[in-house]
Amino acid sequence: MASWVISALLLLACLFPSSVECMVRHYKFNIVMKNATRLCSTKPIVTVNGKFPGPTLVAREDDTVLVKVVNHVKYNLSIHWHGIRQLRTGWADGPAYITQCPIQSGQSFVYNFTITGQRGTLWWHAHILWLRATVHGAVVILPKRGVPYPFPKPHKEAVVILSEWWKSDVEAVINEALKSGLVPNVSDAHTINGRPGPVLSCPSQRGYTLPVQAGKRYMLRLINAALNEELFFKIAGHQLTVVEVDATYVKPFKTETIVIAPGQTTNVILEADRHSGQYTVVASPFMDAPITVDNVTATATLHYSGTLGATATTTFAIPPPKNATPVAMNFTSALRSLNSKEYPAVVPLKIDRSLLFTISLGINPCSTCVNGHRILADINNVTFVMPTISLLQAHFFNISGVFKDDFPGNPPIPYNYTGTQPTNFQTNSGTRLYRLAYNSTVQLVLQDTGMITPENHPLHLHGFNFFEVGRGLGNFNAKKDPKNFNLVDPVERNTIGVPAGGWTAIRFRTDNPGVWFMHCHLEIHTTWGLKMAFVVDNGKGPNESLLPPPIDLPKC
Ligand code: C2O
Repeated sequence: MASWVISALLLLACLFPSSVECMVRHYKFNIVMKNATRLCSTKPIVTVNGKFPGPTLVAREDDTVLVKVVNHVKYNLSIHWHGIRQLRTGWADGPAYITQCPIQSGQSFVYNFTITGQRGTLWWHAHILWLRATVHGAVVILPKRGVPYPFPKPHKEAVVILSEWWKSDVEAVINEALKSGLVPNVSDAHTINGRPGPVLSCPSQRGYTLPVQAGKRYMLRLINAALNEELFFKIAGHQLTVVEVDATYVKPFKTETIVIAPGQTTNVILEADRHSGQYTVVASPFMDAPITVDNVTATATLHYSGTLGATATTTFAIPPPKNATPVAMNFTSALRSLNSKEYPAVVPLKIDRSLLFTISLGINPCSTCVNGHRILADINNVTFVMPTISLLQAHFFNISGVFKDDFPGNPPIPYNYTGTQPTNFQTNSGTRLYRLAYNSTVQLVLQDTGMITPENHPLHLHGFNFFEVGRGLGNFNAKKDPKNFNLVDPVERNTIGVPAGGWTAIRFRTDNPGVWFMHCHLEIHTTWGLKMAFVVDNGKGPNESLLPPPIDLPKC
């Protein structure tokens, strides 16, 4: 069916809301440069509509969203709708060279997708180079009209985006690192809704303020949009109740500290149960490996209304130490799917495909680099090489020579992954995909290794949600560990932290044909090659094939 016919039908359907409860939402994203001042210094940044963080995209479950992205900057770019399932509409997913060629400078593209079976908080971001540092924003998916949240209704809601800020140009930071083969400079500050708050180097700068009224209930939609850092988040004097992660409801639990990795989203309920005063809100890094991070804490303020700024007493939050592994573990292990009658956890019980992927850093020779070698990263010893046209086009139009579908389902040379490492740190490179039949069930164990250093990696899978059925430290044991899997109410999400020196087991069903990227959401690791893609074939049924590409799909 021609796309205008579909639009017309949708429009008709939406004109008669008694029969179908849906809507077509139009957004326009102008990609423009804008000067921004942070840390007492000013630089031009790439933005959507001149805003940092960018505009919030609001839609309801079942709505169709059309976002016209017009590129007015010198960079070619694409936008990814992180966590949106994109059922059969992989063309609108957004990762550059995976599902589309980037939108050239001066060109535009309309992302067209329908939100199905999801409600909660997700986000959008640029998916090329390191542009997502400033090109990102929230996606708020409201439940269908008349359907309540499965928890007491908040009086008010607020989006809270955590991010990183560099004083220098972010593209220059990564380019310099790639040239030298070394690690890039860490950021100069973290931000809460675009603001670092007062810091030593710039004490005068004001942070984000969240006004609240005593006795009211608030829902905060937290998003970690940082490039390279997992974060702790807490509010002085208040506990937070976690109710949803990655746009799936969880069994509510109370906590003082939220742990959130780049790519992840978390909805929390905040009861404004103090009478007055100001309470600081902090975002600080979580890093339990010997790796340098930006140790500057971002601060915001929770401000009870009626409390005057100057005279108000302020209660300060103390962030956990950056290597507080137990705090992170407590949080992660408390996450459970809601698994109610309305929102069941449909965990695949019978497995068609069982995969084991090791996640490593590596070192390859490089004659032009500072030390004669460069740092890389890999999955199953494959450092992924980006193609020059999109993989989805190559797949759909049967263009040969762009990728191979021989990605190894298991480590090429099994060894004691979390023990003594081999002396050879070299990796193979290639554009290799793993092929999966439509509607098969997959178990994927993500195994960290001690290559260079063990480290916590937030792995993100496009096109699917998965269930985390198990996690542990050391090497995954295929005989013993599955006995302890949680197949009843495991957390469902799209980005999962693989524990440093440990593993996590996820399960999903390939009910979405297309090419789906999977990568570490620490941007530096993605850049170094910690990425791969699955190609999911069409099914045989009427609604089981990838739709044809939109006519305005950008050209390379
Ligand atoms: Cu949020 Cu492939 O990314």
